[in-house]
Amino acid sequence: MIHYSDPPILLRDVIEDRAALLGLLERNAPYTPLGGWYRPDVDPDVPTSPMWFQNDWVHADLAVEGCELFLEHPRVMQAARDFYGAEVVLPHSVYVNVMAAIERGGPAHTDNPRFQGRDRSNTPMWLLRTMLWSGLFDEKAIVQATSIWWMNDVEGGEFRYWPDGPDKPPSRHCGDMANTALVGDNHGMFHQVGPVGPFDRGTRLVSQRAELAPAGDGSGDWAVRDRGEVAYRAPLERYRVSVLWKADVYPDEAERARQCAEPLSFEDIARVFDADLARRGADLRFDLGRLEDLAFAGELAALYPEARPVDALPSIFDA
Ligand SMILES: [Fe+2]
Repeated sequence: MIHYSDPPILLRDVIEDRAALLGLLERNAPYTPLGGWYRPDVDPDVPTSPMWFQNDWVHADLAVEGCELFLEHPRVMQAARDFYGAEVVLPHSVYVNVMAAIERGGPAHTDNPRFQGRDRSNTPMWLLRTMLWSGLFDEKAIVQATSIWWMNDVEGGEFRYWPDGPDKPPSRHCGDMANTALVGDNHGMFHQVGPVGPFDRGTRLVSQRAELAPAGDGSGDWAVRDRGEVAYRAPLERYRVSVLWKADVYPDEAERARQCAEPLSFEDIARVFDADLARRGADLRFDLGRLEDLAFAGELAALYPEARPVDALPSIFDA
């Protein structure tokens, strides 16, 4: 079992080639508002989205030009090996977040889990998360390292994290974030983005059609265009820019081969849950015919509840 409960490792002066960074950011514009699992049913023409923009630079089917600046960063790779005491670190994802004028924090959360043979491409997210919180599938969990890198310091924009577990007070990374990275376990450790300035007009909302890109007028500003209008503009340095990196981690090559040879089927998942439900004396049984049924998801999740971290900030996505 890989050990992964330590506080994340702080790296400084992470990106040396500033011109390459700016080229990467500019070539991959425009950036679009965060969608995803906590905002499922948004009307695309109504300004309901905070200015939290995101773009993928690397995933299973994508690797943009210049992405190796982050993907194969030697010190980040070494920090991941050191953090887990592991030999095999396989980077698979890089994505960027750009934020401005968000008066409340992001949600306090752990990142979405993956298991051997099971990820969001073939398994409902609610089930992956319930598998995580049940603790019944730890042997099949794919250990993932995360690095978060910050380009700059902005008004607000703290990173709050719970290295001692959700029941203990959080730590904060703030005020000295420019060109630093934290490398650790964001799948096991709760974390949260704090409010992001400017705060003069509260949270500025845009529609899901909004796009963030260089203004292109020689000013150096980046502008948010939403349904034909410029909704916001500011120098790039005043947006909170962070780049996330994720890698699969295995103790060694033999263990990687062994784990990958044993993918979980839905029948395996049902069998493990049913054994535990019976042991608990619960009436519920895992129903393979109800994987898309949110009522079933709620019944199962109620038996394996997620932790709630203490001292979390209010979230923009709270009801
Ligand atoms: Fe996260």
